[in-house]
Amino acid sequence: KRFKVKDILNDNIEEYEDVLVMGWVKTFRSSKNIAFIELNDGSSLENLQIVVLSPEEFPLDDIANGASLRVEGYLDKVEGREQSIEMKAEKIEVLGEAPEDYKLQKKRHSFEFLREIAHLRPRTNTFSVMNRFRSKMAYAIHKFYNERDFYYIHTPIITTGDAEGAGEMFRVSTLDLEDPPMNDQGEVDFSQDFFGQETGLTVSGQLQGELLATAIGDIYTFGPTFRAENSNTSRHASEFWMIEPEMAFCELDDMLVLMEDFIKYLFRYALEEAEEEMNFFNKWIDEGRKEIIQEIVEADFGQITYTEAIEILEAADEDFEFPVEWGVDLQSEHERYLTEKHFNKPIFVTDYPAEIKAFYMRLNEDGKTVKAVDCLVPQVGEIIGGSQREERYEVLKEKMENEGMDLEKYSWYLDIRKYGTVPHSGFGLGFERLLMYLSGMSNIRDVIPFPRTPKSAEY
Ligand code: 4AD
Ligand code: MG
Repeated sequence: KRFKVKDILNDNIEEYEDVLVMGWVKTFRSSKNIAFIELNDGSSLENLQIVVLSPEEFPLDDIANGASLRVEGYLDKVEGREQSIEMKAEKIEVLGEAPEDYKLQKKRHSFEFLREIAHLRPRTNTFSVMNRFRSKMAYAIHKFYNERDFYYIHTPIITTGDAEGAGEMFRVSTLDLEDPPMNDQGEVDFSQDFFGQETGLTVSGQLQGELLATAIGDIYTFGPTFRAENSNTSRHASEFWMIEPEMAFCELDDMLVLMEDFIKYLFRYALEEAEEEMNFFNKWIDEGRKEIIQEIVEADFGQITYTEAIEILEAADEDFEFPVEWGVDLQSEHERYLTEKHFNKPIFVTDYPAEIKAFYMRLNEDGKTVKAVDCLVPQVGEIIGGSQREERYEVLKEKMENEGMDLEKYSWYLDIRKYGTVPHSGFGLGFERLLMYLSGMSNIRDVIPFPRTPKSAEY
């Protein structure tokens, strides 16, 4: 019977039980009388030690770091070692050799180097841990919303609408670029994209999420989103995963409660259910990470308005590169000051000026600010952006007109306000930014298996 290494190490499997394991060689040492193979099958950080008692009887010449093996044998208990189970080999089959030019030798490689071999990096300790962690946290997200009776909905990847109105859509085109259709001005006629429609990759599932929320109540999306912004920072990717809950009959204050519950639930889940991974991050990526996460689970998040944030920043004894005044968008240096120096914990900033936020946010009574909320955390900055939506037909229509939007194209979106409109709210959590914060990883390229950034779209 085949066993996973994790189960062998964690469960009380009987001594001398016969087992079959399959995995990849992490290290291999041999002498005349005995050989040791550390085998990893991806099920845990720990390797299974395989002991070969009469090396001359086994095909050990073909074994090197990275080779794949099928091993039959029995388990044995060893006293006085941290890992108390090892396996004595009775039959070894080399499934795939790994020649000497295998790039992952037993030493610490820099993250920069590993990004260049993204196809092999999942086999390193750090990235095997990260990929398992990603999977566990994705599960935690589904668990949270399902426990609260939210429906998981699927929004389109190919769409005609730019949900954020920021002009950052990748085009999806079926044009024959060898012989493209031209318009009267002699330019390529992109309105013929995608068999006669101008389409792109979604920047957010929100607008369709609103359609579903105003039909079936509480929903969430969890899928890939795309931004064609040429920003080469450690926090931006061209393709990232976003979780977007949307709630009907919900105002901003109700949503803030859900947001805090959600973040704390995920943090607690990481500490309790992804212990091996969090211990690893705590030891190798950022010492003290677990304590930071634990403190957040126990503390209240701070909450201020944008106007208060500006007052704090103006009073700060700091030389900001970007000057602060009411109306400017908060830059990452400002966010860092607020979360790292002033509050020293995650904060919600609400009620931003309408001009710097997307068209769909609900206008406040002051006529200047909107019911927006960003959640900012130390080191990473913004991890959540959300708002109460403008549910008043006339107000929304006027706003869209003022922004020069094509009302025809968004008539379906306005229809939500025309027929049975309700107050509703939602937000988007960047999955990679969440993983960065939990793990202490400082580059977004290292929390997603195959990063898509302006300079990397290989694989
Ligand atoms: O603030 P954003 O642009 O908000 C929206 O897209 C809304 N439609 C969400 C909603 O209300 N349903 O993005 C939300 C979050 C950000 O706070 C950030 O965590 C993440 O998505 N994000 C990115 N993550 C990685 N790379 C990028 N280029 C990102 N842009 C946004
Ligand atoms: Mg935002």
